[in-house]
Amino acid sequence: MSKKRVLSCIQPTGEMHIGNYFGAVKNWVDIQDKYECYYGVVDLHAMTMPYDPKILKSNTLRMIAELLACGIDPEKSVLFVQSLVPQHTELTWIFNCVASYGELSRMTQFKDKSEIIENSGKSQFISAGLFTYPVLQAADILIYKADFVPVGRDQVQHLELSRNIAVRFNRQFGEYFPEPQPLLTNIQKLVSLADPTKKMSKSLGEKHYIGLFEEEASIRKKVKSAVTDTGQEQGDLMSEGVENLFNLIKACGKDGEYESLMKDYKQGNLKYKDLKETTADALVELTAPFRKRREELIRDMSYLERLSKELSEKARSVAGETLVGVRKLAGLPVI
Ligand code: TRP
Repeated sequence: MSKKRVLSCIQPTGEMHIGNYFGAVKNWVDIQDKYECYYGVVDLHAMTMPYDPKILKSNTLRMIAELLACGIDPEKSVLFVQSLVPQHTELTWIFNCVASYGELSRMTQFKDKSEIIENSGKSQFISAGLFTYPVLQAADILIYKADFVPVGRDQVQHLELSRNIAVRFNRQFGEYFPEPQPLLTNIQKLVSLADPTKKMSKSLGEKHYIGLFEEEASIRKKVKSAVTDTGQEQGDLMSEGVENLFNLIKACGKDGEYESLMKDYKQGNLKYKDLKETTADALVELTAPFRKRREELIRDMSYLERLSKELSEKARSVAGETLVGVRKLAGLPVI
């Protein structure tokens, strides 16, 4: 039996942090044998918010390097840069005529991001691209006829829209696209080190996250100053900060250490110093090889540029085939 197809994408927002890794990319790496995987770096999506073109280009190449460094294997999976597969944009236009203005108006991410722009105190410009962002996302998914999409909770509504677009296209023009389903997997959600009530995110500031490619000394320093108890804990409940460190140890695959520290915790004699040291050791051990591989890859940006083009070719050929069928069904000439 042929493998089911998975697609997922990530925005080139600058260096990945451990929240991105444990919350998404680690799972991408783990499922490479089980599924036929397509993974994209979506630079066109990054254009929907104010951005600097030079930074976008280098962030895109760096993200390719980072995905390779943490284990996406181009022998197994198709890795591509979205803008190097121009069929995505072509299918977006066709889907713009299949999606309704009303359903796009109901997308919560559009409302959230518009608000961020409005409250930024800078330019108040909200592009039409931000509005049609989820249509481009539907094109990313459907152009590879993906069966499954690993997505976080924040992307569920977008995936639903992709399914609606697939169903409507099929009804209007003839059965063509499968309905992509969410792929629910055991991912580890991490919270901020400095404020464990918030999801780990770079926008909170330096001390809130750990970069996946950070130097050992800096990782150790950040773990050391992570918030443990806030004094607001209810009864016997483990504080969010302590739980976060336990989750990290587990996510790094250190089950033995996890069990033993948990035993200490339950007996009431866990030393936070030990918990933090174990956490830092686990993170350093996991990420040191990632950092080394990333450094090797980003040393030669022109090689990375060539590599990105070469890797995207496979995606382009699959996307091109899908588009021939779409053009025929939609009443457009085939090029
Ligand atoms: N919107 C997604 C995010 O911000 C990124 C994305 C773009 C995506 N296209 C996709 C995710 C297709 C899954 C499938 O995280």
